[in-house]
Amino acid sequence: MAGRFITLEGGEGAGKTTQTRLLKNYFEERGFEVVVTREPGGVPEAEKIRNLLVQRDGGNWTPMAECLLFFAARQMHVETLIKPAMAAGKIVICDRFTDSTVAYQGYGHGFDLDVIRQVEVLTLNGFKPDITFLLDLSVKDGIGRSLKHNSGAVGAENTEDRFERLDLSFHERLRDGFLTIAREDPTRVKIIDAMQSPETVFETMVSYL
Ligand SMILES: Nc1ncnc2c1ncn2[C@@H]1O[C@H](COP(=O)(O)OP(=O)(O)O)[C@@H](O)[C@H]1O
Ligand SMILES: [Mg+2]
Repeated sequence: MAGRFITLEGGEGAGKTTQTRLLKNYFEERGFEVVVTREPGGVPEAEKIRNLLVQRDGGNWTPMAECLLFFAARQMHVETLIKPAMAAGKIVICDRFTDSTVAYQGYGHGFDLDVIRQVEVLTLNGFKPDITFLLDLSVKDGIGRSLKHNSGAVGAENTEDRFERLDLSFHERLRDGFLTIAREDPTRVKIIDAMQSPETVFETMVSYL
């Protein structure tokens, strides 16, 4: 039996990690094997690339190099983890995927959307999630939640904030970009109001499964 590939998208603090946990329980209670993973990363080679992309001192990449790094990591992730897990009948739940590259690098930073799509075709050859949940939150609410979340972490300072320290107008373009992606592919991408309670967000997602 073929498994399913489910992705969660949205800005920082939208609730992706929270909802991933709930979805994992949901499928496991129904007897499925579940693989939870994330991007950039998910497999050792891609996690190495993740550090180049998200750490504060990861490097000052040109937009094209950054785009290629994201898709290099993604191609490894798809071929060595996601597709094999699906072939084994597992449910794969991934925190971010191609939509995040289109939203952040494309809509957010203004890198050419057509170039991103060309690299996507070259590296993934049309491979897409079966369903994507876009957890949509206003910029103000999202940043508020994210700050609360990070400051609550015990121990080492969270240094994976290269993308979170960007300005408000960037976050507005990001949100609008995600919404545009969803409107252009409504069969796959479901927009979920992330201001609802975690339980209601979860029930809304389940209604689409
Ligand atoms: N629906 C919700 N309503 C209120 N707070 C939430 C909701 N979902 C998540 N949170 C809280 O917001 C913060 C960020 O959630 P998280 O799941 O880590 O988001 P993300 O993974 O998208 O950055 C956490 O402190 C979490 O407990
Ligand atoms: Mg998270």
